[in-house]
Amino acid sequence: MSKPPIDEEFAFDPTDQSKTQDFGLMAEIRREKPVCRPMDGVVLTTRYEDTTEAFCEAKTFSSVGDMRAPGIVVPLEESFMGELDAPLHTRIRRVLHRIFTRRGALASESWTRAEVRRRLSLLEDRGEGDLMKDFAIPVPGSVAAHVMGIPEELHDPLMEWSNELLHSSWPATGKTERGEGIAACFPELTACVDGLIRAREEAGEDAPPGLLTAMVQACDDEGRVISAHHARTLVVNMLAGSLSASFMLGNLLYRLLSDEAFDATLRADPDKIPVAVDESLRLEAPVSFLFRRARVDTELGGCPVHAGEQVMLGMAAANRDESIYPDAESFRLDRELPKAHLAFGVGPHVCLGNHLTWMIGRVALEEVLARFGPDRIRLPDGFEWVCVDHIQEYGPEQLPVTIGS
Ligand code: HEM
Repeated sequence: MSKPPIDEEFAFDPTDQSKTQDFGLMAEIRREKPVCRPMDGVVLTTRYEDTTEAFCEAKTFSSVGDMRAPGIVVPLEESFMGELDAPLHTRIRRVLHRIFTRRGALASESWTRAEVRRRLSLLEDRGEGDLMKDFAIPVPGSVAAHVMGIPEELHDPLMEWSNELLHSSWPATGKTERGEGIAACFPELTACVDGLIRAREEAGEDAPPGLLTAMVQACDDEGRVISAHHARTLVVNMLAGSLSASFMLGNLLYRLLSDEAFDATLRADPDKIPVAVDESLRLEAPVSFLFRRARVDTELGGCPVHAGEQVMLGMAAANRDESIYPDAESFRLDRELPKAHLAFGVGPHVCLGNHLTWMIGRVALEEVLARFGPDRIRLPDGFEWVCVDHIQEYGPEQLPVTIGS
């Protein structure tokens, strides 16, 4: 096939957040040219069905290298789950899946509730703070660390190092100015996680419960499933994954503080809280898009896709597809989702943290509503919502609040 032209009318750079999170532009593309080529070598999906197809057709659309800069290849042991293909992906996923169940999430609920209350008490005592920095960012990371069986005193430092890693050049290039690979770039994080892994290897049957022990001890017919090196990377993967739940919390808390009707409805009818969590995930998808790479020449929604081209899966756009969700641009608490939204992806890589995320969102809203009466917790007058500075994530950078008596 000859090289296809880009769609000049809808040309944009996928790293330009002002375009990728312009839902008006995405709606126009969905109407006019739902699968288009906004940049040379990049094909964008904006409809629900095409996006779902690309997620599910893993044999045609590979995940390898989907979060790296073009041409960057990292060793398998430094790859997150979301950038592995079968068969290794399937082998590892089988191990993780045993822990990330709905039942597993509910088993962490009382710990999560205690952690949410502790963080809210600290904020309440201070009378002011930033709901992102002091609450939404640390809570999901701590819950993920708890699920892994990591001691509480290590939760905050581990999250700090993981945040440093995520905001460094490592995700795109596998390197920083300190060197190449996680161990060279992030020695403190590596020493801490490797120490936890070694302790579990040595403890054998006496190792503490949790996901980390399951990862270290998993064996199948082919032998040990996850090497110590890869287990270290996957710990970072879980902590990094939990940041999306932080942006979901930020989106929900912002709505609670800025929309009186929303606050009043949830107080009057707490059964609506799980609906609110899911509707926020649909309308305010914390991960706006993901990439895949076509392995062969193929097509999506009538648009030719060439082997080697990147496919940009527009999840935020697909979640607003009017043909699936009537009144798609509105946040509706009376919505019965006809089809599961794509905030967690779908298919072989669907988010492993989904049950945990639903639980964290529900518990956080329940506790904030129970502790603070209407209007007790306030954003400053004239507060302006600014999106976090990350090409794929959608959520508030800050939520400064004061808490009245
Ligand atoms: C609002 C919260 C969250 C959102 C929106 C989200 C979104 C996603 C998405 C879209 C994927 C699919 C990746 C792909 O197809 O390439 C994914 C995968 C994954 N998520 Fe989440 N996530 C969230 C929370 C979490 C949490 C709390 C954890 C861990 C504790 C987590 C761990 C993972 C892991 C390990 C994968 C890789 C699964 C695989 O490739 O098999 N996520 N997530």
